[in-house]
Amino acid sequence: MDLTRRNFVKVCGLGLAGAGTVALVGCGGEGTDTPAGGGSASGNTKPVIFYNRQPSNSTTGELDMETLNYNENTYYVGFDATQGGDLQGTMVLDYIKAHAADLDRNGDGIIGYVLAVGDIGHNDSIARTRGVRRALGTGIEKDGNIISDPVGVNTDGSSDVVQDATLDVNGTTYTIRELASQEMKNQTGATWDAATAGNTLTSWASSFGDQIDVVVSNNDGMGMSMFNSWSGAENVPTFGYDANSDAVAAIADGYAGTISQNPAVQAYLTLRLIRNLLDGVDIDTGIGTADEAGNVIAAEDFTYNADQRSYYAMNLAVTSDNYEDFLDATAVYETAQTQLDEADHPNKRVWLNTYNAADNFLGSTYKPLLEKYDDLLNLTVDYVDGDGQSESSVTNRLGNPGEYDAFAINMIKTDNGASYTQLLG
Ligand code: BGC
Ligand code: CA
Repeated sequence: MDLTRRNFVKVCGLGLAGAGTVALVGCGGEGTDTPAGGGSASGNTKPVIFYNRQPSNSTTGELDMETLNYNENTYYVGFDATQGGDLQGTMVLDYIKAHAADLDRNGDGIIGYVLAVGDIGHNDSIARTRGVRRALGTGIEKDGNIISDPVGVNTDGSSDVVQDATLDVNGTTYTIRELASQEMKNQTGATWDAATAGNTLTSWASSFGDQIDVVVSNNDGMGMSMFNSWSGAENVPTFGYDANSDAVAAIADGYAGTISQNPAVQAYLTLRLIRNLLDGVDIDTGIGTADEAGNVIAAEDFTYNADQRSYYAMNLAVTSDNYEDFLDATAVYETAQTQLDEADHPNKRVWLNTYNAADNFLGSTYKPLLEKYDDLLNLTVDYVDGDGQSESSVTNRLGNPGEYDAFAINMIKTDNGASYTQLLG
């Protein structure tokens, strides 16, 4: 079985102390209290929600449970990365099966794809690379996991990071080959970089363009840049992830597909957990259990993993079959859009950051949704954007935590949870 890093729980640090409660059992000498008992040593019990970048070791994938248990009001909100990566891989495989005869552009019997990797140390990026390789059969397992390293250029199929696969379609056997893959990082170190992806595809195409039959990207920012720089005009099917509005609209012009990570659910959860914690009500209020205004999230759209202190939204595939339902990526969730009464849910101040002002998904999809939900939940949010490169571009702007009732954090590097919790005291 394949495990993404989100499945690695630091077992030594956890004991299940009953439904929904996690007890620290003494990893690294941090004591034996139950977080639900008394909060962190300093007594700061303000809600702290990490979102989109899960506290974890960017090399081993191990979840950073110390950060996730900073106090009893600490949670992570993201989406189910393994389910999403598998869905993306299956979407690509289904397309190849349905169009195999037309895909092999140079007629060499090989269906070649290239892959844009977002950030080699980011859970979500790793899960997508693995999901694509798993579905297409090009992955190689090491220690029970599909290798997620980029391959560089592999036009001759000799790589030991990936392998050639075979696929039988209507009596014809094709080879599936990952021709090239690369982390799309720019000169200054920003990852998931759309411009880098577009330029890289252009240079791949100029040296082996006739071999490229399919383009796959870990996100739509990079996918659209590749589509616009080469693959759109060449009619080479291009797949992304995020279901940003521009990418969904491009499906009408030949963009082949994307995955919605259910951003309305994630944006709602990010602020709803804060609301519930500040109101002192059951954490499930307005989530799995309808609140007094009727707000509720359907069970099939999220899961909660108590051991990991993490809420995960479920992903949905978006293709030419259903894209019209996804054209507005910033639409609020159908059954969670009723304003809360300010008398019962008084206004509170929240500090919230995004890791990079230039991130396509966060800027064009997630943040507009947060801005809708802050009104509905009576939260006044100060939005801070990082530069995507140095954690201090964010932490420098958390100088007065005392002014805020709660915090929502999108780290630049998933390893850096402690840089934030130290500042919160
Ligand atoms: C999105 C990417 C985005 C990244 C930022 C991912 O979940 O799919 O588009 O760049 O989050 O952390
Ligand atoms: Ca070919």
